[in-house]
Amino acid sequence: MNDAVSLVDYNTLLHPYAAYKHLRDTAPVKFEPLLSAYVVTRYDLVREAIRDTQTYSSEYDGFLAKSQEIAFANAPPDVQQRLIDVNKAMTPIPPTMLTLDEPKHTQYRSLVSKLFTVSEVKKAENMVQAVIDAKLGNLTSKKQADFVTEFGFPVPLRIIGDRLGIPEEDRTFFDVAATAAASALRLSPLTPQQLVERAETALNLQKLLIRLVEERRREPREDMISILANSKLEGLDRHLTHGEALSILNQFLVAGHETTTSTFGWGMLLLCRNPQLQDEIRGDAKLIRTFVEEALRLESPVQGLPRLVTRESTLGDTKLKAGDMIMLRYGAANRDERQFEAPDEVDVHREKAGMQLAFGSGVHFCIGAPLARQELNLGFLAILDRLKNIRLTEGHPAPEAEPSFILRNLPHLQISYEVR
Ligand code: HEM
Repeated sequence: MNDAVSLVDYNTLLHPYAAYKHLRDTAPVKFEPLLSAYVVTRYDLVREAIRDTQTYSSEYDGFLAKSQEIAFANAPPDVQQRLIDVNKAMTPIPPTMLTLDEPKHTQYRSLVSKLFTVSEVKKAENMVQAVIDAKLGNLTSKKQADFVTEFGFPVPLRIIGDRLGIPEEDRTFFDVAATAAASALRLSPLTPQQLVERAETALNLQKLLIRLVEERRREPREDMISILANSKLEGLDRHLTHGEALSILNQFLVAGHETTTSTFGWGMLLLCRNPQLQDEIRGDAKLIRTFVEEALRLESPVQGLPRLVTRESTLGDTKLKAGDMIMLRYGAANRDERQFEAPDEVDVHREKAGMQLAFGSGVHFCIGAPLARQELNLGFLAILDRLKNIRLTEGHPAPEAEPSFILRNLPHLQISYEVR
């Protein structure tokens, strides 16, 4: 493989794994000029950086904002003016969890962790199962379908809407707005018109969520917004401001549903490509759990996230200085042969399959992982209970990833099957 190969090259975005292997073997911490960041691909080095939060900070908001600034600068003056108007009307959003370091990070994290306790997740199981069963009807009513649009996409979206407590009459707008919010992880260029629409949708989503926070403060219910609205920040003895609540809710929408959709899609593709697995894991909750970890490992929905270097350091053999950006590639670490034997194979008997880094690690370990795992474990159990002989539908182009640097999604997956 050519040393000039860039991870942001179109074909590499679609098929990054050969490039990841090359980087792990030859330059596990390598500067990528197009990103202005050092790309980290080896498992031990990714973990080392995640764990050393003093040296590798999560306060990298500026890096993500850069693509928006470029889009703004390139927009025509009338579009810029509309964007300025919309921005003025928006509630400013402070960083809360993902892009904050300790000790502030811990304050928010311990408040939000109330939403994902074992008992909260268990309490939601019937609701999650009900959504899965309802959307399975989209599949069992026919013999072939686009699995992503009929199941993989609507299930996590419906579940996050239900868990948050979005009223039925606001669902149509919420579904559109939540999907637009998740697009932030794509870092893909937008047309001026799309920029304005995206900004207006974000403003209306803010209005809806603030209204719900206020309503739930007056009349709490059994949903996540009620818990968030009525909990107090540790040590400060006060409720969240609107901006803080929006920041947390926004992270759920950005990080919380299309990531799960991604694993539904890639997991189903693994089942189609390894048909013997369908019978092997059907009805076996434990094997399905390992299968889900393997799907997360092999096709990590969040391929990577940045960190900001705070002081002089050496990662692997590479010297870094304060102000450098590094880009951790969870997707590359998860296929590191130094950590996982036969890393490109799905192995439902793999010991320590849970060591995969798709949810990150350390203080920023995905707070929604218990919910995502619950959806995926129950989802694949139910799918295999009702469908057999699942295969790719002939006559369609081979399933292809979306060319995105952060979120690795499979937008469509045409499958055929028999209903059991
Ligand atoms: C398969 C599904 C999911 C994947 C692969 C995923 C992946 C990740 C990753 C890699 C991180 C760590 C970020 C870092 O290292 O800085 C993270 C953090 C986070 N995730 Fe998830 N996520 C998933 C589902 C969810 C769900 C369902 C929710 C909430 C409803 C959620 C909410 C969050 C939040 C709020 C954080 C920030 C935590 C912190 O900084 O302390 N995620 N996620």
